[in-house]
Amino acid sequence: MQTLALFDEPEVSREPKQIVDGAMLLPGFALGLDRELITAVERIITAAPFRHLQTPGGQTMSVAMSNCGAYGWVSDRRGYRYEACDPLSGQPWPEMPASFATLAGAAAAAAGFDDFAPDACLINRYLPGAKMSLHQDRDERDFAEPIVSVSLGLPAVFQFGGLSRKDVVQCVPLMHGDVVVWGGAARLRFHGVLTLKAGQHALLGERRINLTFRRAR
Ligand code: SIN
Ligand code: FE2
Repeated sequence: MQTLALFDEPEVSREPKQIVDGAMLLPGFALGLDRELITAVERIITAAPFRHLQTPGGQTMSVAMSNCGAYGWVSDRRGYRYEACDPLSGQPWPEMPASFATLAGAAAAAAGFDDFAPDACLINRYLPGAKMSLHQDRDERDFAEPIVSVSLGLPAVFQFGGLSRKDVVQCVPLMHGDVVVWGGAARLRFHGVLTLKAGQHALLGERRINLTFRRAR
């Protein structure tokens, strides 16, 4: 029997996919908001520009960062921590747009984590060649709260590992508009992003922007 093209599967499935217990990929979850998110990021970085932070060990990170919300994640020779003010300006971080918090809450709920109300949004900018080594997100007060990560621009490969740095990692391709949520049993799993490949994205050009929502305090 002939199959009707009309009823073929869409090329990219929007079905949520479990990465491991407690971690979900929500393909395209942020697509409807992409332009609004990018416009908001542009506004935020005029007040709190992207900067390359130093690790406590003295290395310069290849990913440039900024923040919005009540708290921002920072790193320097004194360590990793959340700060209410941008160390560059001494001013509070730009406010988190309502659309950011709504999106993050909806994504968390879609992954099974109700009532997520982020107070911090780390904004990561990757240019080709930038990467983020395997790490755990453990500077937040309450590990019962999930992490919500929104990808925009160039595609990247997300690595999702175990509770030990040496554990095997899964490679998860992340496209523009994809959201990953991890919490519960997956909250302290190691994760990272492989070196960004060169490319051109219709909205962001030669860049990947990642928004990572946390409940810091
Ligand atoms: C992070 O772990 O903070 C960033 C993840 C990403 O860029 O996808
Ligand atoms: Fe992280």
